[in-house]
Amino acid sequence: VNKGNGIKGLVDTGIESVPELYILPIEERLEASKVVPEEPIPVIDVSDWGDPQVTESICQAASKWGFFQIINHGVPLAVLYAVREAAHGFFGLPNEERNKYWIGNSPTDTVTLKTSFVPQAEGALEWKDYLTFRYVAGDQDPSALWPPVCKDQVVEYMKRAEPVIRKLLEVLLKGLKVKEIDKAREYTLMASPIVNLNYYPRCPNPDLTAGVRPHSDISTITVLLQDDNGGLYVRATDDDGWIHVPPVDGALVINIGDILQIMSNDRYKSIEHRVVANGSKNRVSVPIFVNPGPDAVFGPLPEVLESGERPLYKEVLFSDYFKYFFSKKHEGKKTMDFAK
Ligand code: SIN
Ligand code: FE2
Repeated sequence: VNKGNGIKGLVDTGIESVPELYILPIEERLEASKVVPEEPIPVIDVSDWGDPQVTESICQAASKWGFFQIINHGVPLAVLYAVREAAHGFFGLPNEERNKYWIGNSPTDTVTLKTSFVPQAEGALEWKDYLTFRYVAGDQDPSALWPPVCKDQVVEYMKRAEPVIRKLLEVLLKGLKVKEIDKAREYTLMASPIVNLNYYPRCPNPDLTAGVRPHSDISTITVLLQDDNGGLYVRATDDDGWIHVPPVDGALVINIGDILQIMSNDRYKSIEHRVVANGSKNRVSVPIFVNPGPDAVFGPLPEVLESGERPLYKEVLFSDYFKYFFSKKHEGKKTMDFAK
């Protein structure tokens, strides 16, 4: 696949229809009839992490929906806006500036530009370019060679989000009877986060293509900042409908990833989601995938199995799960492939 100038560069040439390569087979499109009207994803006020009601709401949402939004989380609005603007800034660079960061070409493998997801495994390509930042466990500051136009904003966002991530994991693990997150657990839960600047350029016919196909995330949790365009849909629990995640100003969207579903022995759910591009605006989103260190091995937690419950999953080496995920296109959930 010739990456060219990415889908952003292609849209900038003034195309007025979706190129063949991006057109989904009809059965893969998100038809209006599949969108479930009013089943709200909970919005949880976390201004007091010590409030038992907060713990209960979070753990309940993690079990039922696998998705929730948090407000009053302490990351300043200015930091959220700045990192979104930085995404527009990076993708607004002249093609030759942006192209310096293509995967395989970038000055450091801690920052790579990609288009679509796994193009060689995809029928139709995804309508998305993204810049990926990798934090390597133990590496204090990987950002030296990151693009100047967005580097400070990403570093600051990550720094401010870290305590929120820690709180969320503490609360979620408390719900699994884990008393504290020691160093070993910290390595397994959150040692190597990945931040993406996702860019979904304005799409001449968003109904024909996928911003992102249905998938669940690998992560323990994902912390997602979206903008006010909307377009993120989550699979409804009871049928094959899809629920829109409405943009809430200042909120962060949290979802459970496969790893935490496996660690919780299915108490928490890693739910499929998908993105539809926007017909008139360039949409950006900034997910933080909270991932284990590369050598971590995870499986159902001993605390969860204490009462004699059968483990539903094998023990998995994180880097194996990671490679498996990135060898296939976005398509449903991969957890069952690791069932015991
Ligand atoms: C994703 O789940 O891959 C992206 C979510 C988003 O852009 O809203
Ligand atoms: Fe995702």
